[in-house]
Parts: sequence; structure tokens; C-alpha cells
Amino acid sequence: MPEGSFERMWADLAPVGRHPGTGGYRRYAWTRTDDTLREWFRAEAERRGLDVVPDRAGNLWAWTADPDAAGPGLVVGSHLDSVPDGGAFDGPLGVVSAFAALDDLRARGFTPSRPVGIACFADEEGARFGIACAGSRILTGALAADRARALTDDEGTTMAEALSAAGTDPRLLGRDDDALRRIGAFLELHVEQGRALADGAEAVGVGTSIWPHGRWRLDLRGRADHAGTTRLADRDDPMLGLAAAIQEARSAAERHGAVATIGKLRVRPNGVNAIPSEVTAWLDARGPLDEEVRAVVHEVGRAAGADPVEESWTPTTRFDGALRDRLATLLGTDDRSAPILATGAGHDAGILAAAGIPTAMLFVRNPTGVSHSPAEHAETADCLAGVAALARAIEALT
Ligand code: GLV
Ligand code: MN
Ligand code: MN
Repeated sequence: MPEGSFERMWADLAPVGRHPGTGGYRRYAWTRTDDTLREWFRAEAERRGLDVVPDRAGNLWAWTADPDAAGPGLVVGSHLDSVPDGGAFDGPLGVVSAFAALDDLRARGFTPSRPVGIACFADEEGARFGIACAGSRILTGALAADRARALTDDEGTTMAEALSAAGTDPRLLGRDDDALRRIGAFLELHVEQGRALADGAEAVGVGTSIWPHGRWRLDLRGRADHAGTTRLADRDDPMLGLAAAIQEARSAAERHGAVATIGKLRVRPNGVNAIPSEVTAWLDARGPLDEEVRAVVHEVGRAAGADPVEESWTPTTRFDGALRDRLATLLGTDDRSAPILATGAGHDAGILAAAGIPTAMLFVRNPTGVSHSPAEHAETADCLAGVAALARAIEALT
């Protein structure tokens, strides 16, 4: 790789969307910050003579050659958006590594025999409109365009309005068969989000599957009243249902070998001295087995006294077995193949795999084991090992 190519791109992205108070990133879909990130992606593509082709789902694809003429290509890449106060690596590591791997291959004089695409997926985290992997779900038809357009953010802005404000025509939103046809295979490099590689000798692992996971909304209603004058016996306080739901999320997850999180709340009217009239809580539940995750959700709903409303559900996803084994051998040593790991995190790679596209993932060691937080980390040497692994994979697969 040309000296410093990864580091330069990393430094360029570092200030974009970084909150000075928390040190975390607030890179939400279809905002001005998102626009800056998309402009950065376009500029990096242009710098390398790649053609950027948007699809009907808001994703960007930078191609080394025309896949409509030369046939489907190998796509690498990831996303640039973040969760609220997220880390620097979740998403951008895959996009920056993709450009750096291409630089490495070109510096070594390698010419791929089929097109290579670099993808920048829109709204992977679903931080603004609530549905994770919105760009890849719309692309594949897993999220209907009408439903996507009508999703609202916390201010009541619809996705359609946000798209229009960002200069993208929301009427064009929808499944994009032309874009799908161009993807021969997809390989997403991502920071590892737990401790699977943290204590091992290897900096890069290969993904095998994604746990089933989903998001549910709990609408808890009560009656607004005065915090000082209302007798306890006269209260109808939805916070009590919320408290029961939070406790049950923990204990049901323990019983079912799953994980469950209530990480987002909306309280109305949200005053210190007012009993709430309404509490909305979002439950994220995941685990190795679909039925155990569903059992957790059911039990949390029962404890809360509310029917959980399913906002998204992704069943178990398995990546392409042949591709996974090939990569594990390619990236291993003479003695052993690269580590193979499953993850509880969702990815656009999972959505494409579910749509029948041969898909694989590479994970780069995260020494903190922390993610969706400013503490998320990967050492530069490990990031460069990830770039080298991605370059070797592109070389072998094109
Ligand atoms: C996305 O990172 C998710 O797993 O929610
Ligand atoms: Mn994430
Ligand atoms: Mn991610």
C-alpha cells in the first residue's frame, strides 16, 4: 500500500461528526454530517478514477470497471454512519480499508480480472429512523419503500422528507435489481465488537454467522398528574411497567441464553415533577436461537403489560460456507487457518447474504472488546493487517 494511505484517510474522517463533549460520533443518515461523509467517499473514489453509482436505496457504489459491461464484481466496503456517540471504527474501518486495499493492489501492479466495487451503505445503524441496515434492506426489498419513506425520526421528520432535504428523490426509493445484479460477491471488513479476538494472537478473523436479532417497541400508557399532590394509590404511572420490563429483559435473557437491552426511551411529558402520561421503550433482543429470542421478547412484554411491536427482525444469517473456508485458509498460517467467529451484531453483509448473494466478513481485533461507544478501538497495526488481508482476499477472488 502507498505509505500512509490508510492513515491519511483515517485522519480526514476523524473530525467528521465527532461530538466535542463525549468524544463519540453522531453520524446520522441523511443529515449534513452524512452528506460530508458521502462527499468524502465520492472524492476518494474520484481520486482513484472509480465511477460512483448511487442505487435506488441511497447506497453508493464505486467501481473499478463497469459491472454492467464486464459482469458482476466483487464488492467490498461497509458504512459510514454511527450510533449516538458511537466509536470511530464501526463502519468506517471497512470503507477506509477497502480504498487502502485497492491502493495496495494497484501499487503492486495487480489488475483484477473482474470489476471491484467499494460500497458505502446508507443508514446501517438505523440511529435516526429506527430500522438498522435500512439501505441494504431497501436495496434487497426486505424493507418496503413505502414503509421506509414513512419512518420518522425523533423530531417527526419522515425519511422521505430527510431524503428530499439531502437532495435525493424519495420517489425513486425501492428494491434495485440492477444494483443487485452487479454484486457477484460481497466481503465486508469490520471492527470486532466483542472479545472474540482480543486475547488471541491473530489480528484478523473470518465471520461465520450472525445471531438472530430484532427491535421491538413497548408503548406504555398512564395518566399525567402532579408528582407532589397525587396519592400513590391514585397514580397510573407507566414508569412502573418500564421498570418491570427492564428487570425482566435481564432475567429473561439469562434464562434463555440470550441478550436483551432497553437502550432508548421516550417519556411524555418528561418533567421532573409530573407523573408521565406515556413511556415508549425500545427493546433490542438477540441470541443464538430464534425461539429463545422470541421467548425473551414475549416475557418482557408480559412483565411490562404491553404487546411488543416488532419494528425489525433478522433471522439467523449464515455466510457462504465455501467463501468462509477459503478465506480462513488464505488468511491463516501454514499450521492453522484464521479464527472463525459468529457475531451478535447486525451488518449489511447479513442482509445481502439473506438475499442470496455469496457473502463473507472479516473482523479486525478490538483490544477493548467495546463497541457502539467511544471506547471502541483497533490498533493501527491491526487495521493495516486487516487492509493486507482484504487485499489478499480481493486478489484471490478476482
Ligand atoms: C448494528 O451495529 C447492530 O448490531 O445493531
Ligand atoms: Mn454498529
Ligand atoms: Mn457496522
